[in-house]
Amino acid sequence: MSNYHIKSFDEYYHVYRKSVREPENFWEEVAEEHFLWRKKWDKVLSWDFNKPEIKWFENAKLNITENCIDRHLHIRGDKTAILWEPNDPREAAQHITYKQLHQRVSKFANVLKEQGIEKGDRVCIYLPMIPELAVAVLACARIGAIHSVVFAGFSSTALATRINDSTCKMVITSDGSYRGSKTIDLKGIVDAALEECPSIETVLVAKRINSDIEMKEGRDQWLQPLLDAASDDCPSEIMDAEDPLFILYTSGSTGRPKGMMHTTGGYMVYTAYTFKNVFQYREDDVYWCTADIGWITGHSYIIYGPLANGATTVMFEGVPSYPDSGRFWEIVQKHKVNQFYTAPTAIRALAKEDQELVEKYDLSSLKVLGSVGEPINEEAWHWYDNHVGKKKCPIVDTWWQTETGGIMISPIPYVTPTKPTYATLPLPGIQPALMDENGEEVKGNQVDGRLCIKFPWPGMARSVWGDHQRFKDTYFSAFENKYFTGDGALRDEVGYYRITGRVDDVIIVSGHNLGTAPIEDAINEHPAVAESAIVGFPHDVKGNALYGYVMLKDVGESRDRDNLRKEINQQISDKIGPIAKLDKIQFVTGLPKTRSGKIMRRILRKIASKDTANLGDTSTLLNPDVVESIMEEAIVS
Ligand code: WTA
Repeated sequence: MSNYHIKSFDEYYHVYRKSVREPENFWEEVAEEHFLWRKKWDKVLSWDFNKPEIKWFENAKLNITENCIDRHLHIRGDKTAILWEPNDPREAAQHITYKQLHQRVSKFANVLKEQGIEKGDRVCIYLPMIPELAVAVLACARIGAIHSVVFAGFSSTALATRINDSTCKMVITSDGSYRGSKTIDLKGIVDAALEECPSIETVLVAKRINSDIEMKEGRDQWLQPLLDAASDDCPSEIMDAEDPLFILYTSGSTGRPKGMMHTTGGYMVYTAYTFKNVFQYREDDVYWCTADIGWITGHSYIIYGPLANGATTVMFEGVPSYPDSGRFWEIVQKHKVNQFYTAPTAIRALAKEDQELVEKYDLSSLKVLGSVGEPINEEAWHWYDNHVGKKKCPIVDTWWQTETGGIMISPIPYVTPTKPTYATLPLPGIQPALMDENGEEVKGNQVDGRLCIKFPWPGMARSVWGDHQRFKDTYFSAFENKYFTGDGALRDEVGYYRITGRVDDVIIVSGHNLGTAPIEDAINEHPAVAESAIVGFPHDVKGNALYGYVMLKDVGESRDRDNLRKEINQQISDKIGPIAKLDKIQFVTGLPKTRSGKIMRRILRKIASKDTANLGDTSTLLNPDVVESIMEEAIVS
């Protein structure tokens, strides 16, 4: 029986049990058999959630790029490692083989060294989804520099905050980027950010859109001539398993972004292990995750997890709606994609479009569909199942976080029976617990609570960069000796988990705990509804009441609004109970979203509570103008 690749439910059950009874042995076997170490560990795990301090594979030595690239060279050197699909379908796709990737990463790594970057230095990467982004990430890892990728949709202020927080020495960017029919002046954004970033010594600029940009003398350099001149031989830096690999910023519920710090050995083992199992990747498969590498999903499941398994990983520069909303499906057909991993927000958007745009493509290569980033509502789940998977592809609803490094709770396709909106069961090594308000663990099934994890796993973040106290306060202080996720979850009668949403979004109405996600699910099942968001607002009698922002599929929908409100409430009543009915329903033309596609409930909550004097920072929203129109039409009575 293999611990590494689970192929049956029986096997899952046994492996899971072993992983809980003997976690050290379990992870030691996985690490030993499937990775390349320069020196073995002295100890598999030492941990103390009170400090908190977590160390996996102590004193082991390795380089993650040797695991992601070098060790594949003699067996799959000519296999495509990265399959890059450009924004414009008329431009040719690039098939970068493992051999070519090795060359490109080595050259880039030598450029970094020539520019004075050393082990432990922080390098900020602010690039669009072009091959240079993946190459830059791996080049940092090759020489032991700590990469801090900032999503290239963030503003100059957001970029500057992140650069300064981790005192980066270098920024790697491009002259600009393509996004659908638009071009974006990335270098201009970097220039503006750098006015406030004294730690930056060098800016490397990749050419993408051939725009006429300003190069600052003594600071900015074109990347390509440096790469052309660099040697393609770059021995890898030998890293300790607990040396930092990267920093990735995630927004907290309050305050400035947290630089989650991930280390090398455990992260590698965990992302590789979860990739193999959750996507059931086989040697000749083509795997595609639509996330941006600026988010954790891209780090773990476009770059590290797939490459550590010698996979072919698709990297897409564009957007799902360009040149039209059939683009995802066109790419699936073109590259015969076998595993497709995307976010519910994309699924909902595409489900709204003309069905012909999905039906006309041959999607028969697909074997596994994935979902990540937010709870997937039933309607979206079924649309994905029917129209994309043609009812033949298991949907893996993968729950995890920037902090967890890799997928934590998810079905294993063809192994775990799926259930719409359920992330189902913990992966091996993951010990979830549901906690009540008094800090007690809620045992048994058909219960709910705050989702915690009781035991360390190799992929977990080790700290918040520069602020270990905040790491402790945010994740290890709410419940004793447990990692607190900030999410609520329920466990059904067979032990399946359903993530109900951030605990900060739980609304207590007349003493009843109501998660926003299930109510939104119920609303979204109404045939006229595209998307919705629920928030609480103060109510004299109930404590809190519910305010719903509802976006219709057809914004010009002519039906009587009051009737629609009644129907929506009836739907909620039917699905959840009268207690979950909404007091107010506002029809909106859009919902404020972060650039990663999450609904900004904080803003909606303030509008619902008539507390609009200080809406906080809306500049990082994808669609700041929508806030204005929602405010104008808010129900104030
Ligand atoms: C939410 C993304 C329900 C959750 C990998 C979590 C989910 C937060 C799911 C982390 C899912 C992620 N079902 N909710 N399958 N996946 N979430 O850090 O609230 O961007 O805490 O990591 O997204 O978001 P992050």
